[in-house]
Amino acid sequence: MADYDYDVLVIGAGPGGYVAAIRAAQLGLRTACAESRETLGGTCLNVGCIPSKALLHASEIYEEAKGGHLTKFGIDFQGVTLNLDQMHAEKAKAVKELTGGVEFLFKKNKVTWLKGKAAFQDAHTVDVAGQKVTAKNIVIATGSSVMPLPGVTVDQKTVVDSTGALEIPKVPEHMVVIGGGVIGLELGSVWRRLGAKVTVVEFVDQILPGFDGEVRRETAKLFKKQGMELKLSTKVTGVTVADGVATVTVEPAAGGASETLTADAVLVSIGRKANVDGLNLEAIGLELNKRGQIETDHSFRTKVDGVWAIGDCIPGLMLAHKAEDEGVAVAENIAGQTGIVNEDVIPSVVYTMPEIAGVGLTEEAARDKTEIKVGKFPFAANSRAKTNRDTDGFVKIIADAKTDRVLGVWIVSSLAGTLIAEAAIAMEFGATSEDIAYTCHAHPTHAEAIKEAAMAVQGKPIHI
Ligand code: FAD
Ligand code: NAI
Repeated sequence: MADYDYDVLVIGAGPGGYVAAIRAAQLGLRTACAESRETLGGTCLNVGCIPSKALLHASEIYEEAKGGHLTKFGIDFQGVTLNLDQMHAEKAKAVKELTGGVEFLFKKNKVTWLKGKAAFQDAHTVDVAGQKVTAKNIVIATGSSVMPLPGVTVDQKTVVDSTGALEIPKVPEHMVVIGGGVIGLELGSVWRRLGAKVTVVEFVDQILPGFDGEVRRETAKLFKKQGMELKLSTKVTGVTVADGVATVTVEPAAGGASETLTADAVLVSIGRKANVDGLNLEAIGLELNKRGQIETDHSFRTKVDGVWAIGDCIPGLMLAHKAEDEGVAVAENIAGQTGIVNEDVIPSVVYTMPEIAGVGLTEEAARDKTEIKVGKFPFAANSRAKTNRDTDGFVKIIADAKTDRVLGVWIVSSLAGTLIAEAAIAMEFGATSEDIAYTCHAHPTHAEAIKEAAMAVQGKPIHI
């Protein structure tokens, strides 16, 4: 039997890779993780989930104080000012603490961090910064990076991608966001709250691809009410920059007269693509699918024996918690256990205000598949939301008309990201809407809206 340096070598230390490495080590496997960044944690901790949520949180508090939204509660602020440098500094502190936390966990679990970019030499050998490393199993967890827009140059000054948008040193006067997806709406919200005029240019006729149709329509109204301009069914045909001023040329997606928008910041957020360049996959004969991703089976095995793949570089939702769950599963599979991820029950959350969350099927997809019943409950009828003056949004539950099994849950609410966990658990256990309707929920809580939406599926909500 070949003598390998490690039982498991993970390439990439994002939420997928670092979790896979830790679980592999917990299972007694000799584990290393190659990461080319200066810090561990991948996109999510360094330039994704964590810094964006830090700015979303801080900008929300700023808007509440500055905009006088707290006056109705008897809390008056005068002379509220923005110290953007401090806001960035606090964000950087959170990132440092969390990436350092992963480094601590690597040490605690005896995972070796190989610093540098990994490239395959064969299916059991990689080169990391000039060092040859062998492993019985290699997990590709290289994640994803920003999808470029042809003809638009990101200079990270006037034209930024999500990484640049987290570091803008001065609040722009006018930010044009190209792409009304998750990144565009989250980071557009940050800069709007801090004082920028924000125009979102979206190619299709709705924001938020992949979300339930009603949720997409209703949240578009809320974003407009907040002052965001949404230019739907519109495409960007070019961006030029002179002296820090961008001229963005747009035209109807279906063709027609073009117009120009002038902006001092442009955010390109049209999606992400798998990181596979430089891995030398040719050396192991691993081909990519049409979307440039690595295909695996449900155990996360690729077509090449001993090579596995997880996270953003494989098909499916590009989400940190999906990558993490796949990290646990792949390590357990390598150790001979049965690691499974139910790809049908992965919640998605947009951390705007209100938050937008969903799990399972959209109403459209469910209707295409089978006969359904839908129950809805607005937060305007939820006592806690009313008390908190926080009534935007609703809960919508989609259930199979014959079996009553819950197929999808969609929530728009200040607490949607937290509330959706209840729906995910219910669906994971195969709950019916009746199960949720007859589960006692604490009063007064936003969660009661989930129970009432389930009662509405049954045709018997109490409070509406
Ligand atoms: P990544 O986190 O991308 O990590 C891959 C790592 O591999 C990187 O550190 C990279 O340097 C390294 N690497 C790549 N190639 C090599 C190589 N050859 N050798 C060595 N190392 C290599 N998701 C959520 O669930 N919630 C959120 O709130 C959220 N917010 C986001 C906000 C932004 C602005 C962005 C951009 C993304 C956000 N995401 C969010 C998505 C989330 O960041 C990703 O889904 C997640 O990071 C994917 O994890 P991963 O481990 O697959 O890859
Ligand atoms: P996205 O796929 O969510 O949205 C991209 C949008 O750009 C789509 O609506 C698309 O129609 C539009 N678009 C594409 N080409 C265009 C063009 N030429 N002109 C105008 N619009 C165009 O991608 P996004 O926002 O870049 O985010 C990437 C991924 O990162 C997300 O899909 C998600 O997986 C992850 N992410 C998750 C977060 C979360 O969980 N809260 C936060 C941020 C990112």
